[in-house]
Amino acid sequence: MFGITHPIVQGGMQWVARAELVAAVANAGGLGFLSALSQPTPEALSLEIARTREFTDRPFGVNLTILPSVNPPPYAEYRQAIIESGVKIVETAGYKPKEHVDDFKVHGVKVIHKCTAVRHALSAERLGVDAVSIDGFECAGHPGEDDIPGLILLPVSADKIKIPILASGGFGDGRGLVAALALGADGTNMGTRFCATHEAPIHDNVKKLLIANDERSTNLIFRKLRNTARVGKNTISDEVVAILDRPESTFDDVAALVRGTRGREVLETGDLSAGIYWAGQVQGLIHDIPSVSELILRIIREATAIIQRRLAALLA
Ligand SMILES: Cc1cc2nc3c(=O)[nH]c(=O)nc-3n(C[C@H](O)[C@H](O)[C@H](O)COP(=O)(O)O)c2cc1C
Repeated sequence: MFGITHPIVQGGMQWVARAELVAAVANAGGLGFLSALSQPTPEALSLEIARTREFTDRPFGVNLTILPSVNPPPYAEYRQAIIESGVKIVETAGYKPKEHVDDFKVHGVKVIHKCTAVRHALSAERLGVDAVSIDGFECAGHPGEDDIPGLILLPVSADKIKIPILASGGFGDGRGLVAALALGADGTNMGTRFCATHEAPIHDNVKKLLIANDERSTNLIFRKLRNTARVGKNTISDEVVAILDRPESTFDDVAALVRGTRGREVLETGDLSAGIYWAGQVQGLIHDIPSVSELILRIIREATAIIQRRLAALLA
C-alpha cells in the first residue's frame, strides 16, 4: 500500500521528525513522517519536504496533528502545501480530521489516521482513511482517557476494523514487532525509540537520558483536564503533576511550565530540566543509540529469528 520494504513506521514528532530522520527511515525501508507543525509556516514545510527529497528517493509522508487551540495554525494551508508538494502519504492525528481526509482523498493522498480508541478508529474507517495507527496507553504523547494498553486495544481493534492497522505505543524491538503482528496489526509505529538514533536531530543529552531511564520514567500530565499526555519524567513534569493534583488548580497554573518553547529547548540545548519532553514507557527497552538503518534491520532480524526459531519450535 505504501511502497515500503519493512512494516515499521516513524510517527510524526514535534521538533524531531525533520528531513534527516525521515529520510533515514525511508532509506532503511521504513515509512517516516515529517511533522508539519514543526515548520513555522506552510512555505517552510514545502522547503522541508524538498530537503527530505534531497536525502532520499523513497516514499515518505507528512504528519498533520490537529489539536484544539485558541489560535489554531492555518491547517488548510499546511494541507495545501502537502498536496502541492506531491507527497502521497499523510498521518493525521488528533481531532476531527474529516475536512482534511476528504481533501487528501480527492487529491490521491493516502491517509493513516492515528487514534487511541476503537470507536475513533471505526469512525476514521467510515471517513475513508486507508489505515489506522492505534496508540495504546504505553505511548508517548496523547494516550486518550480510556487507559487501555496495546495488549487489549490491538486485538479488540483487529476484531472490528477492516483496513490495515499499525500498532503504536511501546514498540522498540523485534519482540514488539512479532507481538504486534500476532495481535492482528500489520506493522508498528514508533516514536520514542526513533529519538534515540544517530539521525534524530536532538541533543545527545536527551538520547542518553532515554537510555538511562526505564519503563517507569514517564509522567501522565493533564489527567484532570481530560487531555492526558504521557511525557518523560523530570522535575518539570513532576511539578506539573503535583500542581494539577491540587483540587483548585487549573491549566493556567501550569501553562508556563509546559510551554512548547521550553520543551523545544530541552531537545535543542540538552538542558534536561528546561521543560517537558515527550517519551513513552518503551524507554525501558532503549539501551543504545544506533543509526536508523541499524535499528530497523535489527528489529527485522530479531523478529525473523523469533518467528523462525521460538515460534516455529512450538509447532514441532
Ligand atoms: C518527541 C515526541 C514528539 C511527538 N510529537 C507528536 C506530534 O506532534 N504529533 C503526533 O501525532 N504524535 C506525536 N508523538 C507521538 C508519536 O508519533 C507516536 O505516536 C508515539 O511516540 C508512539 O509511542 P512510543 O513513543 O511508545 O513509540 C510524539 C512522540 C514523541 C516521542
